[in-house]
Amino acid sequence: MHVHKYERWWMLFGTCMLVVFLTIIGVAAFLDNINPPSGMQRIDPTRVAQTPPFDSPGLHKRADGTYEAYYVAQVFSFTPATLTVPAGSRVTFYVTSSDVVHGFFIPNTAINMMAIPGWVNEQTHTFDRPGEYLLLCHEYCGIGHQNMFAKIEVR
Ligand code: CUA
Repeated sequence: MHVHKYERWWMLFGTCMLVVFLTIIGVAAFLDNINPPSGMQRIDPTRVAQTPPFDSPGLHKRADGTYEAYYVAQVFSFTPATLTVPAGSRVTFYVTSSDVVHGFFIPNTAINMMAIPGWVNEQTHTFDRPGEYLLLCHEYCGIGHQNMFAKIEVR
């Protein structure tokens, strides 16, 4: 079979690129210790409901006047389903999942995380404007994914 010279170069180029990309992925995965962006907190996903502070999800006030919000994601809901936050408050969200990977996204804020079983992710936002905020799962997690949302009321 005759393969044209340019086609052979092109196949060689493609093969080299494949090797380069696989090497980059391998180095990133095995040598750089890449993990989900978080405070690197681990949690036993089978015991989320018994593990403090996720045994009482919701809003907790810190001594300095800021807040912590603990969320558990599970098919196909968030706990708590509704959170009431005082306007102007700074809230750090801590989120984990008790089953599969979910998303944790609050439109019109910078809050955009994954809820990963075995991990606790965290992000902070200051709710300057009162109103009703939607909390969405934006990772496909199963047949009820599109119904997975919660509400945050800022007043
Ligand atoms: Cu949970 Cu999509």
